[in-house]
Amino acid sequence: PLVSMRQLLDHAAEHSYGLPAFNVNNMEQIKAIMDAARAAAAPVILQGSAGARKYAGEPFLRHLVAAAVEAYPEIPVVMHQDHGASPAVCIGAIRSGFSSVMMDGSLQEDGKTPADYAYNVQVTARVAELAHAVGVSVEGELGCLGSLETGQGEAEDGHGAEGALSRDKLLTDPDEAAAFVKATQCDALAIAIGTSHGAYKFTRKPTGDILAIDRVKAIHQRIPTTHLVMHGSSSVPQELLEEIRAHGGDIKETYGVPVEEIQEGIRHGVRKVNIDTDIRLAMTAGMRRVAAKSGSEFDPRKFLAAAMEEARKVCIARFEAFGAAGQA
Ligand code: G3H
Ligand code: 13P
Ligand code: NA
Ligand code: ZN
Repeated sequence: PLVSMRQLLDHAAEHSYGLPAFNVNNMEQIKAIMDAARAAAAPVILQGSAGARKYAGEPFLRHLVAAAVEAYPEIPVVMHQDHGASPAVCIGAIRSGFSSVMMDGSLQEDGKTPADYAYNVQVTARVAELAHAVGVSVEGELGCLGSLETGQGEAEDGHGAEGALSRDKLLTDPDEAAAFVKATQCDALAIAIGTSHGAYKFTRKPTGDILAIDRVKAIHQRIPTTHLVMHGSSSVPQELLEEIRAHGGDIKETYGVPVEEIQEGIRHGVRKVNIDTDIRLAMTAGMRRVAAKSGSEFDPRKFLAAAMEEARKVCIARFEAFGAAGQA
């Protein structure tokens, strides 16, 4: 069944586990995630970005999720709007049947320029009031995703090397987080701890100076009943990078968020862990392997079946590592 995010995150908090939230754009990603959830007996958070709705089109995305709910009746499923850039986007998602929305008011409506705190509170509180009236959950975001190695915020005018942002400018402030949750009544809060979206997060395996798991602990201590969300939390498995490189791909040296660090976050209030890149890498590894090993292959299903199998393995590993396996 389709359920609200609040329901799943409350259960996760009560039983001290975390839920991966996987980005979806097409049937193959949804099937791979649902097959993994069935194998692991785990609840599922599917999330769609604005880019996903643009790629698949609203009716396709809506019907693909409905198909997943029908085909896997034993699995609780949340359909979540990822990085809603405005109240209008969130309302559109609710009308489309999403059971959860992210109002990302850390950025202005263009989704690129940093927004000030007052704007963030205003739009997030407004979405929470509307969403809660129809049983839909709301995720807010406070802080700047970006790199503690360079001081470069992810937002488009995030300062670069010369005007590097200090640690305290990038990371979510615990007192501000407490005020934000109180003012907005959001169900979950995305926090900035030095992660960023995509494959290129860290130039080395991250240590505490560039991945601030300590900040998770400080925020959790300040707002212990708020469900925390980690964005940019793909682990970027080195085996997948090697598999891609071995079959003609060209991906530079890079490191993601180690699963052990996410597990430490989950011990301190992290309940939702956003993962898109790892599924992209897994599918690319599968497709490249088939393409490289069988130059005469031209049935797309052969490429996509390998892609789904690689994605399924990653999803099962995350359900197990985060403690979500067996919780459906
Ligand atoms: O927030 C970023 C997610 O990885 C979604 O990426 O905007 O390319 O769909 P996208
Ligand atoms: P990754 O790029 O690390 O997979 O992060 C995805 C994400 O945060 C989606 O909101
Ligand atoms: Na999100
Ligand atoms: Zn994100």
